Amino acid sequence: MELIVADDAEAAAREVAERLAALAGGGGAVALSGGSTPRRAYELAAELEPDWSRVDVWLVDERCVPADDVRSNLRLVTESLVARTHNAPRVHPVRTELAPIDAAARYEEQFAGAALEFVLLGLGADGHTASLFPNAPSLDETERLVVAAKPGLEPWVDRVTMTIPALSAARAVVFLAVGPGKADAARRAFAEPPSPAVPASLVRSAPGGAVVVLDRAAAAELQRSG
Ligand code: 6PG
Repeated sequence: MELIVADDAEAAAREVAERLAALAGGGGAVALSGGSTPRRAYELAAELEPDWSRVDVWLVDERCVPADDVRSNLRLVTESLVARTHNAPRVHPVRTELAPIDAAARYEEQFAGAALEFVLLGLGADGHTASLFPNAPSLDETERLVVAAKPGLEPWVDRVTMTIPALSAARAVVFLAVGPGKADAARRAFAEPPSPAVPASLVRSAPGGAVVVLDRAAAAELQRSG
């Protein structure tokens, strides 16, 4: 595992943005997370590399809300990344108008065969990543690439999420987490043995483990534990 501790949230976003921009330059498939943390990384990535025409953007997970809802991960990616590029990527939305189980099946059909170069994951204060929540049944999935899931915390809307096998197949797995509220989860996810109580501890790429980008605040307990 490669740990990068940036001075602050902006510097952490830049670390990730540089990696995303490099991917965009080369082209390939990427799966992006929602939540609030990656917004700045996406904005910077579009500034650094405005041509995303050779990129396929998949969603790591989606909240089952309409695309214009403020909770929509598609909306986040569209506003902070896609709309800021000169040449937009091909974006693959989750069909959130369907029942979650059907939306997951449809997304899996579309996604199957896509070889992810890069997955960007977030980290919840409870240790979740994607919409893989602590001790959830989705963590036991060994075949399906995309499943429907129930949230373990806000927003309380149904989710569609890529599974551990789908995420771990990516060539590069990158986590981004910032702020003191993530410090405990970061220690449990990245400095303790893997556990279904901390789903982020279970997602690692086969070839290279993971790149973990934190700011000093999120890394505080990791550094203390050595
Ligand atoms: C989602 C995300 C989720 C997120 C974490 C962290 O749809 O909720 O993909 O896994 O990355 O909850 O969210 P914040 O960045 O908002 O703290």
